[in-house]
Amino acid sequence: MAHHTPPVLQKAYDTESFRELGHQLIELLADHIQQVQSDTNQLVIPYRTPDTELNYWQNHLNNPGKPIDLFKGILQHSINLHHPRYIGHQIAVPALISGLAGMMSDVLNNGTGVYEMGMASNAIERIVTDWVAEKIGYEKSASGLITSGGTLANLTALLAARKAKAPTDVWDKGHAEKLAIMVSEEAHYCVDRAAKVMGLGSEGIIKIPVDERFKIRTDLLEDHLRKAKEKGLIVIALIGCASTTATGSYDDLAALADFAEQHNLWYHIDGAHGGAVVFSEQYRHLAKGIERADSVVIDFHKMMLTPALNTALVFKRGADGYKTFHQRAQYLWELEQSPEWYHSGKRTFECTKLMLSIKVYAILSTYGAGIFEENINHLYGMGLAFAKMIEQHPDFEIAVLPEANIVNFRYINAPADQVNELNAAIRQELIESGKFYIVQTVIRDKRYLRTTVMNVHTQASDFEALLAEIVQIASRL
Ligand SMILES: Cc1ncc(COP(=O)(O)O)c(C=O)c1O
Repeated sequence: MAHHTPPVLQKAYDTESFRELGHQLIELLADHIQQVQSDTNQLVIPYRTPDTELNYWQNHLNNPGKPIDLFKGILQHSINLHHPRYIGHQIAVPALISGLAGMMSDVLNNGTGVYEMGMASNAIERIVTDWVAEKIGYEKSASGLITSGGTLANLTALLAARKAKAPTDVWDKGHAEKLAIMVSEEAHYCVDRAAKVMGLGSEGIIKIPVDERFKIRTDLLEDHLRKAKEKGLIVIALIGCASTTATGSYDDLAALADFAEQHNLWYHIDGAHGGAVVFSEQYRHLAKGIERADSVVIDFHKMMLTPALNTALVFKRGADGYKTFHQRAQYLWELEQSPEWYHSGKRTFECTKLMLSIKVYAILSTYGAGIFEENINHLYGMGLAFAKMIEQHPDFEIAVLPEANIVNFRYINAPADQVNELNAAIRQELIESGKFYIVQTVIRDKRYLRTTVMNVHTQASDFEALLAEIVQIASRL
C-alpha cells in the first residue's frame, strides 16, 4: 500500500516556498539592519509592557496572516542590537555571516554530539578550539570544546576540577568530603550556581573580597584558605575573573596562578567576557598569566561577534576534558574516556548540540582572525573614551575607570538620598522611550547605569546624545 505524505507536511518541506520566503526574509533583515545602523531616529527598542506583548501574540495566533508578516511582526517587536544606541548587555552584535551560518545550523540540524551527526561541525570545532588554545598560549597537549554558554562551560570546567582534585570520585561514589572553591566576590552568579548544582552549598563558595578596582584581593587568599581548612573544607579550585561582569575588571591572573600552584588547586579562568583579549596584541596584557590556568572559558557570543549561545572551554591538558563525564552511552560511542575529539558530546553537557562551531568559523574563514582583534581594540577603546567623557561632565560620576568596554556611571546632580532612586527612574524612562538601551546595576550599595559598548557603529556622538538625554529626563523627574 502506497503511503502519501499528508498535504500540510508536504507544504512544510516545499523547497520553492522556502526559496521565496527565504529571499523575502533576507531582504527584510538587510533593509531593517541597514536602517537601524544608519538612522538614529529609529528606535533601539520598541518597548511594550509584558502584558501588551503577550496580548499581541495571542491575537496573532488567531489571525496569523502570511509567514513574512510573522517575520515582520517579530522584527517590529524586538530589540535591535545592530542599532548604534544599543549599549546594554554584553551580547555580541552578530557579524551577519555568522547569522547565515546559524540558519544553516538550523536547517541542516546536524546534532553534532556524535561524529556522523555533524562531520563538518565536529571537525570545525576542533580547528576553532585549537586556534583558541594557541591564542591562550597553551601547548599542543591542550584541547577544547564548544558548548552552549558561559554558564554551562563554567559548570563543565568545575566538574573537571572536582574530578581532578577531590579525594573521592564524587561522580561515581557521591560526596564524601565537604568540597569548596575560592572565587572573587565579583564573579558572575553562574559560578555560585555551578557550585550549588555540584552540591558544595553556600559554605563551599569562599568569596574573596575585591579592591577598589574590583579585582580579587590576592593578599587575602592565604588567610581564606587557612580558615577553610580549619572548618574541614577541601578547596579544590581557584577561579579567576577575566573580566568581572559588573565592572569589566581583570583579576591578577598571574598571582592567582602562583597561589593555585603552591596549594595544588585547579585554576580555572572565567573569561566569558574578557578572555577574548588573547586575540589582541594591545589588550592581551590584561590577561597575563591566563596560559597557566588548567581551564579557560571564552564566550564567542560576547566579544567575538557570534550569535548566542556559543562558548569555548579549553583545557590545558586536553585529557582532562574527557574525564569530566565518564559515562557509557553504547549507542553513541563505545569507549567512555578515550580522547575521540570528533564525538563532541563526550565532553559536553549537551547530547544533541547545534552546529555552534560553524558560526564562529564563518567569521574566521571569511575575514581572518584580525577581525576579532579589531573588534576588541575598537570596543575597549570606545569604552574608555566614553568613561573619560563622563568624567568630564559635572552631572555624572563613574564607578571606576574601565579596563574593558563596560562603563558604569550615575547621574549625581540631585540630593544624595535620592540619587539611587533617580537613576533607576532614568533608566526606566530611557527604555520606555526606546531611544537607547542601557542596563543598571548596584555596586557597593549605589545604583549605576551600566553600559557595555558592543556595537562597532556606536560613535562619540551617540554617547553625547545619551548623556544629554539623561540630563533632560533627570530635569523632568
Ligand atoms: C563573566 C561572565 N561569566 C559567565 C557569564 C554567563 O555566560 P552565559 O550568559 O554565556 O551563560 C557571564 C554573562 O554575562 C559573564 O559576564
